[in-house]
Amino acid sequence: MKTIITASLSDELGAYLSATPFDRIFVLTDTNTREHCLPVLRNVPQIADARVICIAAGDLNKSLRQLSDVWTVLSNDRATRHSLLVNLGGGMASDLGGFAAATFKRGLRTLNIPTTLMAAVDAAVGGKTGINFNGLKNEVGAFHSPIAVFISSLFFRTLDRSNFLSGYAEMLKHALLEGDSTLADILSFDLDKDLQDYARLNRMLAESVSIKEKIVEADPLEKSARKALNLGHTVGHAIESMSFADGRPLLHGCAVALGLVCELYISFKNCGFPSSKLMDIAGFIKAHYPPYAIGCSRYGALYELMRHDKKNRGDAVSFALLAQVGQARVDESVAQALVEESLDFYHDFFGL
Ligand code: GLY
Repeated sequence: MKTIITASLSDELGAYLSATPFDRIFVLTDTNTREHCLPVLRNVPQIADARVICIAAGDLNKSLRQLSDVWTVLSNDRATRHSLLVNLGGGMASDLGGFAAATFKRGLRTLNIPTTLMAAVDAAVGGKTGINFNGLKNEVGAFHSPIAVFISSLFFRTLDRSNFLSGYAEMLKHALLEGDSTLADILSFDLDKDLQDYARLNRMLAESVSIKEKIVEADPLEKSARKALNLGHTVGHAIESMSFADGRPLLHGCAVALGLVCELYISFKNCGFPSSKLMDIAGFIKAHYPPYAIGCSRYGALYELMRHDKKNRGDAVSFALLAQVGQARVDESVAQALVEESLDFYHDFFGL
């Protein structure tokens, strides 16, 4: 897989597509990216000639029905194993489009162009694809690596603050997995004043993507080391699901940020993660991310949600934790009482 971080997306994409012959090119967009992002690529002749498939935006539409709609277009318009599906959008496009491509004729090549920071640093890179099913997120899916990912920060300049913060939480997670100097860079970026510092953002983005690529390359099928990328996600996914059920949906990365507070607390208790680092990172998250109150009467329900996590084995809830910044521990089982204690810590720290 080739990842290209570029300031001249049209030129580089055009050159790449000219050098790689495909019999047909399809572009998957959603209603938003068709209007706002597809026009940016109008100068790329192969994209101008491509068949555009448009799906409804939003994670709720990452469904079997939309998957079947994509398969139908690919089939009716005679996509073959020599065709290419370009996924232009957020995580929804690369997840659903990637899964459609993984399964259509047992494998069509894909190229991802993420249009959100979250997709650029996470979903578009690493080959995880899938749809929601039976009320569960990403319940059905496949590993199917794109042949290339083209990242242009042009798309992120117009992101609203919440969507920016959501992607930034994954960058914070990558920094925690990498080491102290990357973490210092992420924590010292002023999310109020530095947002126009595109050069610095691009540099941090490139480093973040390369951290994920390095981990995925070592363990593409998530047998061991890749599980570290789930740091913050066991509690984070559960908070995200609860926020949806409550009708007060949190963006994925905003829920992961709160999950990080809990899981770093668990790391401190079980793996010796330094308390000073826990306080610094929890302080950064408290300063920037919206809180989400979860009364202790709901801790049991939240724990039940954690039991649905894909990386669990049997009934035990499995965590990725940190012994130090840059030193992950995977497959850590944690007692329910400590998970609840971490939720108490989060609540007290945030003053909820
Ligand atoms: N989002 C975590 C991973 O790609 O493994």
